[in-house]
Amino acid sequence: MMRSVITGSGSALPRTVLTNAELAERVDTSDKWIVERTGIHQRYIAQDDETTSSLAIDAARKALDAAGVDASEVDLIVLATATPDQTFPATATTVQHALGCNGGIAFDVAAVCSGFLYALATADSMLRTGMARRALVIGAETFSRILDWEDRTTCVLFGDGAGALVLEVQDVAGDGPGILSTRLHADGAHTDLLYVDGGPSTTQTVGHLRMKGREVFRHAVVNLAEVLGEVLDDAGFTACDIDWVVPHQANARILDATARKLGLPAEKVIITVDRHANTSAASVPLAFDTGVRDGRIKKGDLVMFEAMGGGFTWGASLVRL
Ligand code: UT7
Repeated sequence: MMRSVITGSGSALPRTVLTNAELAERVDTSDKWIVERTGIHQRYIAQDDETTSSLAIDAARKALDAAGVDASEVDLIVLATATPDQTFPATATTVQHALGCNGGIAFDVAAVCSGFLYALATADSMLRTGMARRALVIGAETFSRILDWEDRTTCVLFGDGAGALVLEVQDVAGDGPGILSTRLHADGAHTDLLYVDGGPSTTQTVGHLRMKGREVFRHAVVNLAEVLGEVLDDAGFTACDIDWVVPHQANARILDATARKLGLPAEKVIITVDRHANTSAASVPLAFDTGVRDGRIKKGDLVMFEAMGGGFTWGASLVRL
């Protein structure tokens, strides 16, 4: 059967680390509060010469290298971001040109922290219907540019970065590798809980991120447990079969609560929120690449990706490597 198979991954982080202690000099917060409530110890922050596209290009090059694929062989780039370089053109086209694979399909997807799941599902559909053969699926963000650095309830939570996967359509056996099942959801009733208070069509400004964290937390735990159950049912697996969960890295407490609901041991969850904080659409591929490169995630493993974010949007995808 035709499946989209992950053949390589890569990631990129800005040069500069910002610790909790450094943040505590700017706003009324403390390392203790941030660590206890979120599990975050530090985040990476892009300097002026580092952009969403530069991080995406760096991550994409590493993913191509890992897959042994030449950029000229890529005919689809789907880039998830809520912090594009410009309103248009799509950041994916900037990445395409820098990599030297012009002529194929390239576009951005906006689903905030679930953006990578939406991008993965879009690329998977396009590959399996024959619109393309070899895709780069990228999550890349510079959330530091849309943070209100005087709002302690949000500025301590986010960081910048990028992650990329190479996805290739292959004819595989039933128990072979590939994306096995994916579910996506959105519920626009909750836009006021997590949003940016600006935009080209309203304020003509970029705006700042606003979040009612406690309410988002409550929805996240319920929605993620539900969607994980759906994806496992669709693919005919149970939580015990999962080798690794690679979740969106918003808060260590959400990751613990979701693992507990699934009955999964915490050792099966890849956690990078301590080092990277919440990098929105970049967080899942960044965490996946971290787990692959440190040797934990291996070929043949059953891996669950999951994310929830502004909109609300949420989703999960079960993949055999
Ligand atoms: O990626 C998209 C999805 N996003 C998420 O999943 C985020 C989900 N939410 C969360 O992760 C958590 O709700 C937060 C980490 C954002 C907040 O944790 P919380 O345990 O829900 O705290 P809270 O918002 O209920 O605030 C508790 C207290 C408040 O003080 P009072 O009103 O109890 O006196 C806040 O003002 O903590 C205070 N507070 C802070 N104190 C020190 C809020 N931010 C800070 C801070 N430093 N940075």
